[in-house]
Amino acid sequence: MDAVLDFVDQLEAYSPVSVWVLELLIVVIVLRVIFFLHTLLDLNTARERARVYLNRENELKYAITEKKDVFIPDIVPVPNFDIKTAPVNPARPFKPKFHLSMGIQKGTHNDVILIDHLYPKHTALRKQLVRDHPRVTHDVHKDAPEGILDVIAETYDMILGQILPKRWPTIFSCSVEKGFHNSISGETCPFPAPRTNGGIDALRILAENVEEDILIMTPVPGPDGDIYVLQAYAVCFPSGYFPTLKAGMTMEEIHKPVPGFKQKLQSSVDRYFRKISTGNVMRRWNWAITLDPTLFNPGGNHFYPTPEQPTPPPITKEEFDPDQANLRVEHQTLSRLPESQALIFTMRTYITPLSQIKAEGLGAALADACEGLDANGKEMAEYKRRGEWGEVVGEYLRS
Ligand code: HEM
Repeated sequence: MDAVLDFVDQLEAYSPVSVWVLELLIVVIVLRVIFFLHTLLDLNTARERARVYLNRENELKYAITEKKDVFIPDIVPVPNFDIKTAPVNPARPFKPKFHLSMGIQKGTHNDVILIDHLYPKHTALRKQLVRDHPRVTHDVHKDAPEGILDVIAETYDMILGQILPKRWPTIFSCSVEKGFHNSISGETCPFPAPRTNGGIDALRILAENVEEDILIMTPVPGPDGDIYVLQAYAVCFPSGYFPTLKAGMTMEEIHKPVPGFKQKLQSSVDRYFRKISTGNVMRRWNWAITLDPTLFNPGGNHFYPTPEQPTPPPITKEEFDPDQANLRVEHQTLSRLPESQALIFTMRTYITPLSQIKAEGLGAALADACEGLDANGKEMAEYKRRGEWGEVVGEYLRS
């Protein structure tokens, strides 16, 4: 207090001009502080925009020059891409003994969407499925959080605005002025994402333009940290599940029918989901045997035992049509969106006739893998319906 009074005394000793200069100095300092805070806020707003619409030419430039931590997916263009001859992923992920495990491999954003010569045929089919089964194929859960529209828009902008045009520039183009153009379908869709119909329109466009099924999850607090809930999806090739019934569920609830999931995988999956950071992409594979090549198969492929029917009845040799039977492989990826921090899960389905597996010289290896499905208990073999096809498929693969 004494110091303040001394200061005032000293001021009074100065001429009025000196006091005026001091006041001016204070005003200038205050103005500079306000200006600094304003710039900071303004910069943050621009950063937010740059994060969301990275593909906009001017903002991309801004993001690169002004913002060091902005996220741009690591997309490498496919050289000399020819959709007519582009090979199908040849993964054969079966092993002699089945072990239920996370089976996670490290990937990149180049693995999230995969395109081969089947793209025109499969996307045409997806368009039809989306029309015939609107709710099963694309929807938003009724209790999804308010921000789900932003999450869907971010997914759309990332896939249609970044991944497709950067990886396959001869097929896709995207700009704010001209929209997203798919030269295979000949269609142009809005860009950035349409926010109509609660995000359902954006999900439909996603479902029609990629072969991957896309499941969008957001975190909710759980007893040991966040757990993830399925909030929205674009799913045309479901195997043994109705996406509509899984929406709003946690990982534990979704995987309830999967034998051993809760005991062996649940806590690792939850921990892994919490840990995955923007920029990391995880990939994993599933495989199954199917008796027909139907891609849209929500009611088939899995078996849920009841006391009355503990195993599915076996089919006879006469009922078995080897030309229809397949190895069904799923390539899955998981990645975190940079802006909303939601998780995106993709499932890409490959159907390979068993005759082709035999032609590749892998008939006996696949027969071994089918027998090894019960390596850790018969439940997984039952879930995969081996009781129905085991004998006839084994015999065919070894013949
Ligand atoms: C690291 C993460 C994950 C692991 C290890 C995992 C593992 C599995 C396994 C082993 C199956 C049994 C499939 C089979 O062999 O036929 C399965 C089924 C399934 N998974 Fe996952 N999964 C993961 C993530 C997810 C996510 C993120 C979703 C969806 C948001 C999902 C949705 C499903 C569905 C719908 C089924 C079918 C369940 C049924 O029969 O009703 N999974 N999962």
